[in-house]
Order: sequence, then C-alpha cells, then structure tokens
Amino acid sequence: MKHCLFLLALALIYTAVPAQKFDKLANTPPMGWNSWNKFACNISEKIIMEMADAMVSSGMQKAGYEYIVIDDCWQVSRDENGEIVIDKNRFPSGMKYLADYIHSKGLKFGIYSCAGTKTCQGRPGGLGHEYQDARTYASWGVDYLKYDWCNTTTLDAKSTYSTMRDALYTAGRPVVFSLCEWGESKPWKWAKEVGHLWRTTDDIVDRWDAMIAILDKERELASFSGPGGWNDPDMLEIGNGGMTTEEYKTHFSLWCMLAAPLMAGNNLQNISPENKEILTNTDLIALDQDPLGKQGFCFRDNGDYEIWIKELANNEKAACLLNRSDEEKRVQVDFTVLLKSSDDYWVPDPYELEDYKVLDLWEHKEMILKESTLFITMPPHSVKVYRFLKMQ
Ligand code: GLA
Repeated sequence: MKHCLFLLALALIYTAVPAQKFDKLANTPPMGWNSWNKFACNISEKIIMEMADAMVSSGMQKAGYEYIVIDDCWQVSRDENGEIVIDKNRFPSGMKYLADYIHSKGLKFGIYSCAGTKTCQGRPGGLGHEYQDARTYASWGVDYLKYDWCNTTTLDAKSTYSTMRDALYTAGRPVVFSLCEWGESKPWKWAKEVGHLWRTTDDIVDRWDAMIAILDKERELASFSGPGGWNDPDMLEIGNGGMTTEEYKTHFSLWCMLAAPLMAGNNLQNISPENKEILTNTDLIALDQDPLGKQGFCFRDNGDYEIWIKELANNEKAACLLNRSDEEKRVQVDFTVLLKSSDDYWVPDPYELEDYKVLDLWEHKEMILKESTLFITMPPHSVKVYRFLKMQ
C-alpha cells in the first residue's frame, strides 16, 4: 500500500512539474505581432525576418512587444511519417533557423495550427497529430502557439484543446497557448485551465463598426479575464488603413482598457509616425499590462457616449471616455465620480481625489483641476483616457 502511495505521489509530481512551467507565461496579456491581418497567406521567411528587425528598430520591442507569430499558410502537407511539411518555397531555411533568428533579437517565436483536420486556409491541421506536432514545435524553439478551430465538425472544444495542451506539456518546452475558437463554446468559462488566452469573437475587420461590435461583446466577460488567462478580442488593426488615426487611437485605448492581448497586425517596416505613436504609447500599454490584471468595465452607457473604468494595482484607476457617435460631443466629466466608480457596490471606498494626480494619457500631461468637474469637447469616434495616479 505504502509502495502504491509512493508511486502515486511520484506520478503526481511528474505530471505537475511541466504544467507549473507554463503557469507564469502570461501573468500580463501577451504582446507581439502576428502576420495574418496584413499579410494573410502572402508570408515568407524574408517578411518574418524583416518584421523581427522592424520590431526592434521601431521601438516596439522596447515598448513591450515580444512575440513574432506566423499565422496560417506556412505548412503544405504531411510526410509519410505524418510529420508536418513546411512550404519550402516560402520558408527555405526552415523554422528552426527562423526561430533562432528571432531569438537572437531577444524576441520570442510563435506559430499557428488548427485543432481540426485542416486549417482555415485548407492546410494540414493538428487533429490526431497533437503529440507529434508539439514535439516538432519544441525542437524548432516555438514559444507561442495559436490554435484555430476550423474543420472540427462535432469535436468538443474543451477536450480537443486539452489534448493539445497535454501534448505541449509533454513536449516540455514552455509555450503560450492561444485558443482561437471565436467564443463559440464560451471558452471564458473553461479555458483558463487549458490555455493563456482565448478568442471571444469572430475575426476583427479593419473598420470602425466592426471594431466597436467586438467591444460590445466584451462587456459581459470582464470577470473571466485575469493573470494567466485572458479574453482575446482579436489582434490589432492599427496601421492597416481601414480606420482614421483618431479611430486607431480609440481601438488601441479600448484594447488596453480591456486588458486584451496586444498583437500588432500591420507592416512594421513602413509604419507611419502617427501609428507608431499609438502602438508605442507606453502609458496606455501600462494600463494593459497592469499587474492587477483586471479587465475594464462599462461604467456609464449613455448610448453613443460611454465611460469605461479599469481598476489598477495600488488602488489606482483608469477612465476612458468614448464618443461612439459620428458627431463632435461636448461632455461634462466629474473626476470624483470617475475615481469612485466601481463595478462592486459593497467594496469600501478608499478613493479621494486629493490623493491622486490625474494624467491625460494621450496628451501626456497632468490635468490641473480647479474643480472636480470639467467640460470636454470630443471629436467623433474619439477617446479621452485618464489615469488616477496615487501620490506617495
Ligand atoms: C481564422 C482565425 C484568424 C486567422 C485565420 C487564418 O479565421 O480566426 O485569426 O488565424 O483563421 O486562416
């Protein structure tokens, strides 16, 4: 009996160790770049290397972006042993070479596959090859896996994604596991034990209305997101040309308020100064990456004018005013109300405005408040983002 217990304990330790290794990989929302939004299937080794170079030279790495992720279309078939075959025309030096190059820049390497028989672009999927693929990814030096949900017919999402998670654990290399099943089986309810982030919605489109439609779906999900497991409202479209600079500022601000993973999706080589300023706004990024890890909530909904609040560590807060309308708006803001706002009625209120500095995170200045209230004019589709910074 004692012998059996000892063996059981050993088995538990053995299975627990790899899992622990994966625990601290996403204490804050992952940040990086992914090829899909800009390049779709027109990817190559050259493009990925150029993006890694540009991630460093643009200052994005310094601002916190870390992962370079190749999305769909890098794979063409499986060989006679079932091993995945890379598109050699597009990636002539292979994935290990690319991973080494990306690592040499101090960045991390991500790849894409799919839980079904085929990826969304009809390339070979992972179904039935999970352990084999996980070993291959580990041998290449993969640090991040985005796992899609096309061609899965009647599969159960939780158990299918769990199989891939177990395969990754067994392969032993720590990998951020990004679940991409578009919110269909309400992954926010189960995915925290399986992966580090889960898509909540269909694919983003580079248009104002599509971006705002995603925001609306995040409202009910705030309580499910947190350190180690994040709601993923999809990748960023900043710089891809479908929205105005004002709208891209709004897109970025909202994703930071949501504590969303920040995966840039543009061509980093020819990024405009305006878009660079948006993507590298470290005051906004600090909201996204705040260690408390709380997703922001909609505190006031006045139709086309909303106020979003994000609680931060150290009893700090951020407030985002959002003008959703196509017209300029003049709004009255009461900073005491914003500071004291809460999604929980019963928490004792530790907030007094005189203990805080109020920072405007797009103007990069401290607000000098003669009174607690202020009138602000907001252009169409714009935001104002404030941080209540606790004075020591
Ligand atoms: C799905 C995903 C996208 C992208 C494409 C690639 O649509 O949701 O993010 O990965 O597949 O085919």
